[in-house]
Amino acid sequence: MADAFVDLRSDTVTRPTAGMREAMAAAEVGDDVYGEDPTVNALEAEVAALFGHEAALFAPSGTMANQIALQLLVPPGEELLCDADAHVVTYEIGAAAAYGGISSRTWPTVGADIDPEVVARMIRPDGFFAVPTRAIAVEQTHNRGGGGVIPLDTLRGLRGVADDAGVALHCDGARIWHAHVADGVSLTEYGGLFDTLSVCLSKGLGAPVGSLVVGSAEKIARARMIRKRMGGGMRQAGILAAAGRYALAHHVDRLAEDHARAARLAEAVAPFGVLATTVRTNLVPLDLTKHALDARALAAAARQEGVLISVLGPRTARLVTHLGLDDEGLDHALRALPRILAAA
Ligand SMILES: Cc1ncc(COP(=O)(O)O)c(C=O)c1O
Repeated sequence: MADAFVDLRSDTVTRPTAGMREAMAAAEVGDDVYGEDPTVNALEAEVAALFGHEAALFAPSGTMANQIALQLLVPPGEELLCDADAHVVTYEIGAAAAYGGISSRTWPTVGADIDPEVVARMIRPDGFFAVPTRAIAVEQTHNRGGGGVIPLDTLRGLRGVADDAGVALHCDGARIWHAHVADGVSLTEYGGLFDTLSVCLSKGLGAPVGSLVVGSAEKIARARMIRKRMGGGMRQAGILAAAGRYALAHHVDRLAEDHARAARLAEAVAPFGVLATTVRTNLVPLDLTKHALDARALAAAARQEGVLISVLGPRTARLVTHLGLDDEGLDHALRALPRILAAA
């Protein structure tokens, strides 16, 4: 993709910074399948500690980290509950069913605005000739929910629901860093609420690759076997882990800048009636139901003006701020998008 474009499609389009590349080049490495890569081992220990858990496991992608966690929590033929727009049932190409034999049931889409009582009523215990529920998954922040942040009290309510029912609670924390920066909740506090988390270094933090599964030592030992089975055992992965360590050290606090830029984009498009929800983090979801332009037409017109946006559905689109977007790019988008929306 030409650099001339202001790329607002996703926070995964970032490229490693010069400092990150230096850290990658200098990384000490070993064979991680043998557990001998010192940089991977350091990253795993660091991330486990950040979330107050015993252990963590480096995985090639957020999808694999989620799916390893789900296989840890839900045996084949048993049930996962999550929301209908969750990444794990929307964008992971049926992996829970295909690899884990997991049956998924969803509550209606409410983004980050979950009612723990609704979830509690869905849980099916053992012994009633129904598929027993084994785990609940939530997404922090919520991708299709427009980067919404699930409030801490809601998460505590869900933890109570899970404990009462004896089921596990998983967090797809691909962007949990954004929630931490937006709401000021510590990563340890979030960590304490979940049996397992998956967290990504390549969504907004700027690493080229990498996610981790976080949990107890016993779970992570099993996770290592599942990762190998899924083909995710990597060798001199310290080169990638070094990028992740660099990202954690340098790119978490700066997410506040991405959130502020997203708020400015939201403010610029709001007068055209296309803002789908209040913007809390780095995602700006657009609902074009009442606009003359549909999502493809808007994306095509934006492209003509040098701005790339994501089409998520016929009338839904998304703008995303990230490490690769500076004020010059933002200003360009702030001029172009209102002009296009006003002209239609
Ligand atoms: C909420 C969420 N979870 C998981 C993932 C999966 O990450 P990956 O693309 O690394 O598989 C994504 C990707 O954007 C995501 O937004």
